[in-house]
Amino acid sequence: MEENNLQPKNLPDIDPLTNDKFVPHHEFDGIRELANNPPWWLTFIFIFSLLFAYVYIAKYHFFGDGDLQKTEYENEMAQYMPDEEDDSAEGGIAIADVNIDFSQPLSDEEGLGKGAKVYATNCAVCHLAEGQGLVGPNLTDEYWLHGGRLEDIVKVINEGVIEKGMISWTNQLSKVQIHQVSSYILTLQGTNPPNPKAPEGEKYVPES
Ligand code: HEC
Repeated sequence: MEENNLQPKNLPDIDPLTNDKFVPHHEFDGIRELANNPPWWLTFIFIFSLLFAYVYIAKYHFFGDGDLQKTEYENEMAQYMPDEEDDSAEGGIAIADVNIDFSQPLSDEEGLGKGAKVYATNCAVCHLAEGQGLVGPNLTDEYWLHGGRLEDIVKVINEGVIEKGMISWTNQLSKVQIHQVSSYILTLQGTNPPNPKAPEGEKYVPES
């Protein structure tokens, strides 16, 4: 057999500096590796991470116990966007293609109750809990800046009056919710809450 120049034969087995053993025949460019065991804690972390991985894979992928990231994400998104069944007051995306008769206010308790919820969550900061008005005008009197018909109210809610601080709610609330909250606002007429804001705009009396 030919002599291998890169693997000189007569290397010492023991490192004279540390008295540790060398890995035999393992040399490159004069650099050799010591045959030391890794410290116990590193071995422990290594074995622990292996065990953890097996348990993790078994739990999520074999037994299907617990949601994967994708499902978790979808669940959270579904919670955020209310649909027609669950148009609770949390806001959401306008549902474009529902036909709602905006010429008639709702009169059923359920719809008005949902309107009240939408109002409490989104509008009461500026119009106050009972509609008496603060940043926004009093919604309980007969005076309106933009008209007191249901259509007028829906229009203000949809378009907003940005320069006065009332945003457009078209993209925040669904059409159903806008119908509910504007119907609810009409029920506030004549409720005379304490400390009302002074009337603003023109008097509107519905023709009956
Ligand atoms: C950040 C404060 C703010 C919030 C929140 C807010 N509004 Fe307003 N709103 C105003 C202001 C200010 C005006 C008066 C606009 C003007 O002077 O033309 C107004 C006007 C209105 C009007 C017209 C009143 C009139 O006299 O013609 C209606 C109706 C109305 N808001 C409904 C709502 C509803 C419903 C919500 C919740 C979905 C809401 N507002 C949330 C500030 C707010």
